[in-house]
Amino acid sequence: MARSAGDFNLAVYLLVVIVEVTVVESFCKPSEACWPTSGTIAAFENSLTGSIVERGDAKYEDLVIMKNARTTKYPTLMVLVKTTEDVQKSIRFARTHDIRITIQSSGHDFIGRSTDDFSLQINMAEMKDVAVDLSSARHSDGEITVGSGCSWKEIYQEVDTNGRVILGGSTHTVSPGGYTLGGGHSPVSRTLGLAVDNVLEFEMVDVDGNLVKSTSGGTDITFENGTTTSNSDAELFWALRGGGGGTFGVVTKFIFKLHQPPSQVVKFYCGYALLAYGQVIGKNMIKTFISLIKDLPTEWGGYFILIGSPISSIYFGPIMFVLNHYGTMTNEHKLYLEPLYNLCADDHNFTEFDSFWKYEETIVEEEYTWLYTFNTLMSADDFTDDWVNFVTDQMTNPPAGSTFGCTGTLIGGKVKEIGKQETSVHPAFRSTDMSLTCYVAWSYETRHLDNRYVDAAKSLGRKLQTYGRGVYVNEPAADPTNWKSDFWGDNYDKLYEIKKKWDPAGQLQCRYCVGYVESGNSADQTTFSAFWMFCEMSVILGLTVLP
Ligand SMILES: Cc1cc2nc3c(=O)[nH]c(=O)nc-3n(C[C@H](O)[C@H](O)[C@H](O)COP(=O)(O)OP(=O)(O)OC[C@H]3O[C@@H](n4cnc5c(N)ncnc54)[C@H](O)[C@@H]3O)c2cc1C
Ligand SMILES: *[C@@H]1O[C@H](CO)[C@@H](O)[C@H](O)[C@H]1NC(C)=O
Ligand SMILES: *[C@@H]1O[C@H](CO)[C@@H](O)[C@H](O)[C@H]1NC(C)=O
Repeated sequence: MARSAGDFNLAVYLLVVIVEVTVVESFCKPSEACWPTSGTIAAFENSLTGSIVERGDAKYEDLVIMKNARTTKYPTLMVLVKTTEDVQKSIRFARTHDIRITIQSSGHDFIGRSTDDFSLQINMAEMKDVAVDLSSARHSDGEITVGSGCSWKEIYQEVDTNGRVILGGSTHTVSPGGYTLGGGHSPVSRTLGLAVDNVLEFEMVDVDGNLVKSTSGGTDITFENGTTTSNSDAELFWALRGGGGGTFGVVTKFIFKLHQPPSQVVKFYCGYALLAYGQVIGKNMIKTFISLIKDLPTEWGGYFILIGSPISSIYFGPIMFVLNHYGTMTNEHKLYLEPLYNLCADDHNFTEFDSFWKYEETIVEEEYTWLYTFNTLMSADDFTDDWVNFVTDQMTNPPAGSTFGCTGTLIGGKVKEIGKQETSVHPAFRSTDMSLTCYVAWSYETRHLDNRYVDAAKSLGRKLQTYGRGVYVNEPAADPTNWKSDFWGDNYDKLYEIKKKWDPAGQLQCRYCVGYVESGNSADQTTFSAFWMFCEMSVILGLTVLP
């Protein structure tokens, strides 16, 4: 008898149920008998180079607040690790006492994946090793080893001192941790690729506390008894390059490629408005930009910004392009942008910087506001007239009392040259031209209307996703529709196999991370259905545009 498609689906479904990662249902809580005594905790702390900070300590209060303050939770034991051995001891301690583990580097995660109540948080903030090796045998321009707790600012400064550049984030306070494990885009991605394309090696502590070195050549594991085994299995290296933070182990150190510095970096700024005296004047500007994206010289990278708020009594709705040119700008590369700067004649400029760091230094982190964000990856062809109408309609007519806007990071260039299967980021990253994050923003005064704005934002997010392909795992909405395929496309199944290998008991869990099982618990729903994103646009602009 021929099998029907229905039988086949059922078989696949059963298979999925059977091989699900075993999820530790309930970890030990501080009120329970399983919780370690204060003496046991003190002995553990004595064994560390770092320290344990607790609620009430000034350090704890600083570190616990997530950048998206709405997702702040209170780990019971925050272990401020200083060394790889501290991480190994913390994992073994948490496993011995059956305590939930969370991992945090900078706390920038949009949806709180780096914290939880009652957890032992391995906090990497003080893992700040930085070592440059300019005579690296595997990369002729040199390499840098960085601890997961470094900020990009600290790394940029060190790299600049050594006369090199590195691919990193636009915001100075973000850490390489979750940023790199989820992909990592940059103002210079179109020249140097994604962060995952620049990793030479990961040093990781696995869920058993073993020390792991992962490279394209394979995996070395050093056990507690000091024995090391090596194999040529590079699956972990693939999974760590895009599979997301908090999933396969704790990455203590990253070794990145360095690059020769550009002769200079030129910043191009161009500003326009969607409306003048209530009349639409800006759509043509957006369409002009779109027409330039496909063949944009790879030296140009940067950001596209839309904000649905007044500029003056006459103008409404800033449309801005903040691009950066890697290296001295040729006349041809300048003229490529002519259709844009002809339009924004009164409000554009080119600024030259001697180095990437001098340019990056101008990017400052200032104002935070309340937003609900959503993202999609857009190729040049996805920017249809219908898309232009959608975003501009939302700018002029957002949910009452809110503001709609978008920030797009230019991708493409070098990122497209790397094969879809070479790393585990969503395959759409390799054909996308922009990671487009839009938002609905409202104010503290209207926070009682949270749910109304969140609901409106959710449906706009779903609509935005119909134009693009997939979602950047590091810029997620709080309510992804199909998180596995949204974040990883076809790569999810393989990532899940690798997760089972490295964390068979599901010791590492985070929201919408590979292997995540939805609890259906109503507390989860209330925490996340009304979600505030504290984020700001001036990070990218280096200037304050919000009125
Ligand atoms: C203001 C702002 C600017 C941003 N700019 C950019 C940008 O320019 N480009 C870009 O690509 N993204 C950007 N992002 C998104 C950023 O990539 C994510 O927020 C990312 O999660 C930050 O990683 P983190 O380790 O610093 O944050 P955390 O919140 O500390 O961690 C994020 C996730 O990674 C896990 N994790 C952290 N460290 C480790 C580790 N050592 N080992 C294993 N898991 C770990 C955590 O458990 C969590 O799941 C920005 C975000 C914000 C809020
Ligand atoms: C060390 O530990 C590993 C993993 O538990 C084990 O496979 C190996 O046989 C041990 N080696 C020695 C010399 O005890
Ligand atoms: C470029 O233009 C922006 C916006 O008008 C302005 O804030 C900035 O100072 C200008 N930069 C230079 C170097 O003139």
